[in-house]
Amino acid sequence: MQEPKFYLKQNVQCEPLFNQWYAWTHLIAPHTAAMFISNLHLKIMKSYVAGPQIHANAVKNPAMLGGPFIDYQGGRVDEIRKLADRTAKESAHMIEFAESVKSLNQLLNTEAKGYSLEPLYAKIPQALKGYVELVYDVNNNPSIRFLEGLLYKSRYYNPEAQSILLSLIDRDDRAFALSTPRLPDGKSLQLRIPFADETIDELFKMKQVPQTLSYIEERLRLTADQEELFKTFLTEVPPAPLQSYSGAGVRVRYFGHACILLETNEVSILMDPALSYSYENGIERYTYQDLPETIDYVLITHSHQDHVMFETLLQLRHKIKNIIVPRAHGGSLEDPSTKRVLENIGFRNVFEIDEMDTIDVPGGSITGLPFFGEHCDLNIGTKAAHLIKLKNRTFLLAADSNNIEPELYRHLFELVGGIEVLFLGMECDGAPMSWLYGPLLSKPLDRKMDQSRRFSGSNYEKGMQIVDCFNCEEVYVYALGQEPWLTYALSLKYTDESNPIIDSNKLIADCQSRGVIAERLFGLKECVYA
Ligand SMILES: [Fe+2]
Ligand SMILES: [Fe+2]
Repeated sequence: MQEPKFYLKQNVQCEPLFNQWYAWTHLIAPHTAAMFISNLHLKIMKSYVAGPQIHANAVKNPAMLGGPFIDYQGGRVDEIRKLADRTAKESAHMIEFAESVKSLNQLLNTEAKGYSLEPLYAKIPQALKGYVELVYDVNNNPSIRFLEGLLYKSRYYNPEAQSILLSLIDRDDRAFALSTPRLPDGKSLQLRIPFADETIDELFKMKQVPQTLSYIEERLRLTADQEELFKTFLTEVPPAPLQSYSGAGVRVRYFGHACILLETNEVSILMDPALSYSYENGIERYTYQDLPETIDYVLITHSHQDHVMFETLLQLRHKIKNIIVPRAHGGSLEDPSTKRVLENIGFRNVFEIDEMDTIDVPGGSITGLPFFGEHCDLNIGTKAAHLIKLKNRTFLLAADSNNIEPELYRHLFELVGGIEVLFLGMECDGAPMSWLYGPLLSKPLDRKMDQSRRFSGSNYEKGMQIVDCFNCEEVYVYALGQEPWLTYALSLKYTDESNPIIDSNKLIADCQSRGVIAERLFGLKECVYA
């Protein structure tokens, strides 16, 4: 008799972990990972052990949402202490790396005064020797250039610290994921599989193509006590068949936040993948099941954790043909290469696009346009607004671009002309710099400086200038992180008094009064351009 075959349930959630922490790009690039372990993870855990109730109270305070607080209601202190001890032991070399970066920066500050840097090589801490070059810019500002490619081949890149955590999800309100390390909960199955392992592809193919239990259990190297839980993730009920768009025009679907799928009968392009799982819920949405069989291009606008979501990307990896990411300057802590990150976690055909580069795709093209701001004035290359032309239609997906210099768009208009459909993020408040980049700094930023340098996107005035400049016919405000199934990664909750809501309401009303179609997207949206 033939062995029965099973599907993976559509609501199997897959959390990517690094040392038990929710993984994102800065936990993969070795130099930034070292800074996060040393300057964030260990600090949060030690602070929790010292005052668990302070964390419990902070987590309950909506004003502290997304802050560096562990969400275990003041409990599980022993386990957090053990995790901190284990991290300090297993990641001792990473901690040494981070401390060496700090002392090398101090050395450069005191000794690099415009003269040759060669004598300073003797003073580079041992942990960094051969992995960094000391450089000046043309104004004699010294800095460290990290050899990223080499670091990935060194002991500072440790895929063994990666794992995936599988569980069943049936509701939207996941807790904020970035500040709380995962501890065992009896309902989740942690598999110590590096992200690059093709077993992950075999597993997630099973959401569409059934497989025998013996095959997948062997691939996953499940132990006997993991088997029972794993079986609850399987079903014999087949999912609805996937349907691609086969019409003559362009179909655009909004999946939530910055995730947009553009399809023609020739090509599919998925922007900033971040998907909801399928389960019974109150808000209509597209999910994994609304994607085509294969995705020709995944397109990334920038490397913030809500735009490069490993949780979604890993589950789609087997069906992604190409990934286009903005080109990093590389070599700095603030701008690790997204291409290297993705390649090292198992993605193939990752291509970089630079400002004003064009890549031809069937029936059209993708052009990387400059993306100003929203990165706290750090020198970051890994950000692009994507101009997509398909079937003679033009779409600009500007993500969190902050129009801090309207002249940019005037130059662009002269080069690329009008744009019919604009997608614009308007998170115009934005968190202060330390929220994401704090662990990368060698010395803390003055509070006022921190508050002035923010992750802010365009407000009403700046947004309207873009709309006017490109003579847009349709404007969609998106990337506001309002879908409740994504709060776990974004920590954004607005009220009617929040500036992004006030400003986007104004922009929409202004557009509509001029006959421009305008809407703030939430949940789901489909437009077909014939
Ligand atoms: Fe962003
Ligand atoms: Fe964003």
